[in-house]
Amino acid sequence: MRTKMVAGNWKMNKTLQEGVALATELKETVKNPSCAVVIGTPFIHLATVSELLKGSPIKVAAENCADKDKGAFTGEVSAAMVKSTGAEYVILGHSERRAYYHEDYAILREKVRLALDNGLKPIFCIGEVKEEREAGKQNEIVKAQLEGSVFNLTAEEWNNITLAYEPVWAIGTGLTATPEQAQEMHAYIRSLVAEKYGKQAAEDTTILYGGSCNEKNAAELFANEDVDGGLIGGAALIGEKFRAIIAAR
Ligand code: 13P
Repeated sequence: MRTKMVAGNWKMNKTLQEGVALATELKETVKNPSCAVVIGTPFIHLATVSELLKGSPIKVAAENCADKDKGAFTGEVSAAMVKSTGAEYVILGHSERRAYYHEDYAILREKVRLALDNGLKPIFCIGEVKEEREAGKQNEIVKAQLEGSVFNLTAEEWNNITLAYEPVWAIGTGLTATPEQAQEMHAYIRSLVAEKYGKQAAEDTTILYGGSCNEKNAAELFANEDVDGGLIGGAALIGEKFRAIIAAR
């Protein structure tokens, strides 16, 4: 049985105090979730929020890590540093990192490698932009993203990977993929994992949907066989909405 999961991605939102307030609220209100719950916070929150969530079922993710091991890389945060905060997960390959910070397949391959080598579990994001979907190229794109950065992993390493399908045209736009579009793509992604790592590994791989997933549409998206949960942006910033999405899973 694969893990069902609802993960939040706070992105560049919330001061430390605001983040602590939301994490505290979630700790007090999310006690027996029926799925795994993860919150992705900015680097500066990680140590405090991880400490605060000790004894809670809620796990913590970084939203990025460096593609270098350590050394003279001013401003960067390594996978080992993330791990030392108590975080268990790291979101990698987010379309905002790919688009605004030019993270290509090779850079992401390095980041995934360093994350795994340091005991972090990557939540690896893939997804096509609007023009690619309009041209019917979405399958080709996600396949290339997987082959470019994660299909080099061993079968054992693959067990630590969570995937997130995030069509870029749906992120922060209020345009959600329809449940049919999400299911179709998730099934396709699972078939690629099956080809590469075998049927059982594919069955065990958690594939999240992200992109304007909220408290209103979550249940409909999660009802699909291959949609194992969500990676939530905007709606993860409000405790009540995030809890409603967890309850829908
Ligand atoms: P929104 O839920 O705000 O569309 O963001 C989705 C996302 O990018 C999660 O990583």
